[in-house]
Amino acid sequence: MTRPPMPEHRPDRVPFWQHLAMFRRDILSTQPARLYRAKMAEVKLPFLHSVMVNTPDLVRLVLQERAGDFPKSERVREGLRPLLGNSVFVTNGALWQRQRRMIDPAFEGGRLRDTFPAMWQAAQSAAGRVAPGETEVEAVMSHAAADVIFRTLFSVPIEDDTARQVYQTFRSHQRSAPILNLAALFRMPKVMPRIFSRKTRETAAHIRRLITQMTTARMDAIRTGTAPDDLATKIMTTRDPVTGDVFDTEEMVDQVAIFFLAGHETSASALAWSLYLIATHPEWQAQLADEAKALRPYLDQGISPDFGVLRRFPLIRDTFREALRLYPPVPMLVRETAQHEQFRDRQFGKGTQVVVSLWHMGRNENIWSDPHEFRPERWQQDDTKTCARDAYLPFSVGARVCPGAGFAMAEAVLILARLLCDYEFHPVAGRVPVPMAHMTVRARDGIWLDLRAR
Ligand code: HEM
Repeated sequence: MTRPPMPEHRPDRVPFWQHLAMFRRDILSTQPARLYRAKMAEVKLPFLHSVMVNTPDLVRLVLQERAGDFPKSERVREGLRPLLGNSVFVTNGALWQRQRRMIDPAFEGGRLRDTFPAMWQAAQSAAGRVAPGETEVEAVMSHAAADVIFRTLFSVPIEDDTARQVYQTFRSHQRSAPILNLAALFRMPKVMPRIFSRKTRETAAHIRRLITQMTTARMDAIRTGTAPDDLATKIMTTRDPVTGDVFDTEEMVDQVAIFFLAGHETSASALAWSLYLIATHPEWQAQLADEAKALRPYLDQGISPDFGVLRRFPLIRDTFREALRLYPPVPMLVRETAQHEQFRDRQFGKGTQVVVSLWHMGRNENIWSDPHEFRPERWQQDDTKTCARDAYLPFSVGARVCPGAGFAMAEAVLILARLLCDYEFHPVAGRVPVPMAHMTVRARDGIWLDLRAR
């Protein structure tokens, strides 16, 4: 059995300058292995005071019980603002509540069902784009997940001229983004993120111009009664039940930017790691391929399945769950204290960065059995329920839980099933992916797999 790859861990004590250099590269390999067991870890430097909370009770406190006292960190907001403006991902307080009131209805169960045909089209296109041979699957999955977002949000495929430009600009934006890690945790002079991220700001502005075009066109279509019934129309026509108003164009551009970013980067990361885990566990893969045969009749007859077909893929669903545990696309959440706090026996002043590491909770050695192993069958066992309640947070928990969780599970299971119908996945010798955190958890040199036609 192949053990899923882990990042290298730094020794417990390293000189400050070396720590800083590691931070710049990747936030995961900056962490010592003891964090898989530690209850809490504090870092106190002249320009950084941060604490990682690593026990279920503290995580619950920060994300659920007193979430209002631990708002999104201003430093994370600063780093993301060029792309996301005032989107729901970065706002706090009353503005954030208003945005969630208008966004959440678009992701309710019934609406998810309505988006299914668009997801199926995207899964079909993804299967059509791949070919046998050695393939870098992160890129394939990014393409597929971006296609899902454009089809469900704006009823256009990724081949649409503006959609394609958003996607391509985003890829170059992403390459200049690791600075976010630094900006997120260090109290740097305000000018620092600006100097470092000029390219990031330029690509962000370009993406926002393109999204503005799409949003303005949709506003016009809503006015003339010609808008398709998709997620964008739903969000743009949903009235805030408290104030009665709808999003204006600028606000909607902010929200579309986060749907695009949060909605495709995350799913693409988890899908690519899922395929790697599947490829390295051939016996399990054979069972999944068997399950995926439920799609065959639809493919043979050239018809679309409906949402209910997802119930036929319990093992594929468990595989994706396990991939999210081992490689949570959003590895860490960063909040800050709004007032003085005491965690365990330690005191923390206002403005302390509070980090919840979804990566470390998912592999917590005090909670999970075989935490670093790929064991998808654990999801069929009763004792996993307790571990999951305490330490499984790939979509976060509490009021700020990911609104796209159900959407992401549906698209992922569907895309994996569709690809397993046509292809066997095999690892490529000498190409073991090394996880690292960019905007999401990615592999340092991509994830290469050998695809063979079934
Ligand atoms: C496997 C896929 C996904 C994962 C693992 C994931 C994970 C997360 C996590 C951990 C957060 C909380 C971040 C924080 O509080 O700092 C979040 C928030 C969010 N996600 Fe997702 N997400 C996924 C897919 C999606 C999709 C498909 C959409 C929309 C189409 C989406 C939209 C959002 C939005 C709008 C937020 C901000 C919510 C708020 O702050 O109130 N996500 N997601």
